[in-house]
Amino acid sequence: MKSEVRRAAQILRAGGLVAFPTETVYGLGADAANQEAVSRLYAVKRRPLDHPVIVHFENSAQAFTWAREIPAEARNLGERFWPGPLTLILKRSAHARDFITGGQDTVGLRVPSHPVAQQLLEDFQGAIAAPSANRFGLVSPTTAAHVRQDLAKDVDLVLEGGPSEVGIESTIIDLSGPRPALLRPGHISRTQLEGIVGRIDEPAAGSPRHSGGMERHYAPRTPTRMVASYALDKTIGELKAQVAVLAFSRPDERVDYWLRMPRDPQAYAQRLYAALRELDTAGCELILVEAPPETPEWAAVRDRLSRACGPA
Ligand code: TXA
Ligand code: MG
Repeated sequence: MKSEVRRAAQILRAGGLVAFPTETVYGLGADAANQEAVSRLYAVKRRPLDHPVIVHFENSAQAFTWAREIPAEARNLGERFWPGPLTLILKRSAHARDFITGGQDTVGLRVPSHPVAQQLLEDFQGAIAAPSANRFGLVSPTTAAHVRQDLAKDVDLVLEGGPSEVGIESTIIDLSGPRPALLRPGHISRTQLEGIVGRIDEPAAGSPRHSGGMERHYAPRTPTRMVASYALDKTIGELKAQVAVLAFSRPDERVDYWLRMPRDPQAYAQRLYAALRELDTAGCELILVEAPPETPEWAAVRDRLSRACGPA
């Protein structure tokens, strides 16, 4: 594995694209200082150019060189949660050029904990721009096989690192404004963040663009609909369409394709994207998702599911 990672670092230095495992989802990496490499990254993702990417670093000292103002909250969060599934939005330094930030004055910084990501960042000795390694708007990959299915020959190397432990993208907190704002819920919860930075506001209308803010995202190709637990049975009975179901409850014999999900939110998140991908290939006309509880510990999963069900 070590020599494979060294090869990956060389590919990055030469301006190539490397998919690599992180603890959240697999990322599609490019040298964050190389404009040509980053523009190829956008082309492969089919991502709009004004849409910023997260930049990954080996440690917080390196990460903070890409910010020009580092509030105490940022240092405290970095100390507590890095390396780990947290992205900080800060005012950018001169390192973070327009082709990384989508022209915004802020930059997204993250220090991932996955050992392969850590090794890659250490070998590369630089900043790696990495969105999730899927085409724009579709379900993120949590295994190397998912990346190969999605991007095939468009990526120079896919590093293997087993299934991602967290399973959903990092929590994003914006510390570039007067008050901290949560831009994307994730494994690190609002409560955990508030323990360090105090009360966190809901994102305001004028806050920076982020794909979490787009209605349909993380979405299967098959139309997907969320149904309350109590209505699941009745909905299945009424539907004429061939449905595939993602649910907590036991399989219903009227349904051919049924995936049963764990009642623990962390375990659910870990399996979510593989499950959506599986249901998407089941050849059904509709995916029905049993809604998870409306409690804070389900916030991140509910966010991804409601986006998967957003209008096409
Ligand atoms: O867990 C993760 O964060 C994964 C792994 C690979 O690290 N990466 C990831 O990247 O989810 P991506 O590009 O798929 O999503 C990044 C999100 C996007 O919604 C992007 O717009 C937002 O972060 N973002 C990046 N820079 C930003 C900025 N300066 N201001 C606001 N949002 C930003
Ligand atoms: Mg993404």
